Amino acid sequence: MTDLKEYFKSTDGLLHKYIVSPSILSSDFSNLQSEILKTESFGAQWCHIDVMDGHFVPNITIGAPVVKSLKNAVKSKLDSHLMIENPLKYIPDFINAGSDIITFHIEASGDNTDECIKLIKDAGILAGISIKPKTPPSVILPYINKIDMVLVMTVEPGFSGQKFMSDAALKIKEIKNTAPKNLIIQVDGGINDETAKICADYGANCFVAGNYVYKNPDMKTAIKSLLG
Ligand code: DX5
Ligand code: ZN
Repeated sequence: MTDLKEYFKSTDGLLHKYIVSPSILSSDFSNLQSEILKTESFGAQWCHIDVMDGHFVPNITIGAPVVKSLKNAVKSKLDSHLMIENPLKYIPDFINAGSDIITFHIEASGDNTDECIKLIKDAGILAGISIKPKTPPSVILPYINKIDMVLVMTVEPGFSGQKFMSDAALKIKEIKNTAPKNLIIQVDGGINDETAKICADYGANCFVAGNYVYKNPDMKTAIKSLLG
C-alpha cells in the first residue's frame, strides 16, 4: 500500500493534518510558475490542475502540456483533475506529463473504470475518482479499496467561483463511514475557511480551493486556515 504521509508534507518538509491543493484555474496564468511557488511558500502541498474538455463540462481549460511544463518548475505535487469524456484515452498523456495524482470522473469512465485505475496505479502515482454533486456515493463502493482518493464535488464542475453546495458535502460522511482508513477524501468547489471546516467535520482531509486562495488579498492566512 502507498505510504501517503509524503503527500501531507509541504515542500519545506512540515507534516500537516490536511492537504491544500490550490486550483490554478483562479491564478494569473501569465505568471503561473510564480503563482504556484507563492502557494508552496505558504505551505500548500499540491497544485490542482483543472482539465476541462468542453464536452464533459461546458468549459475548455488546459491540458497535459501545461502539466509537463510545471513538472520541473514547481515542487508541489501535481494534482490533475480530469473533467473530460473518455478519460482512459487521455490518462497516459497526464501520466507522461508528470502528474503525481490523477483523478477522473466516474460519470465519464463508465465500463472503463477498472482500466483507468489500473493505468494510473501501474504508473506508481495516486488514483482518484470524482463524483459530481448529483452522483450517489454508492457508485464508488466497488472501487474504494483500489484507489487512493475520492473527490467529492461541491459545485457542478465547469467553473471556479461558484457557491458551495452543502447537500453535496453530506456525501463525505457516507464515504468516510465505508472508506478504508487511509483513503484521502478531497473536496472541491466553493471551499473557504468556513466550508472547509464543515467538510473536515464530515471527514474530508484534502481541500481544493481556487478563488479563496488565488483571489485572496491575504493568501498566506487563507492557506494556513485550510492546513488545520
Ligand atoms: C470546478 C473545478 C474547481 C474550481 C474550484 O469545476 O473543479 O477545482 O476551480 O474553484 P473555487 O474554489 O473557486 O470554487
Ligand atoms: Zn477541480
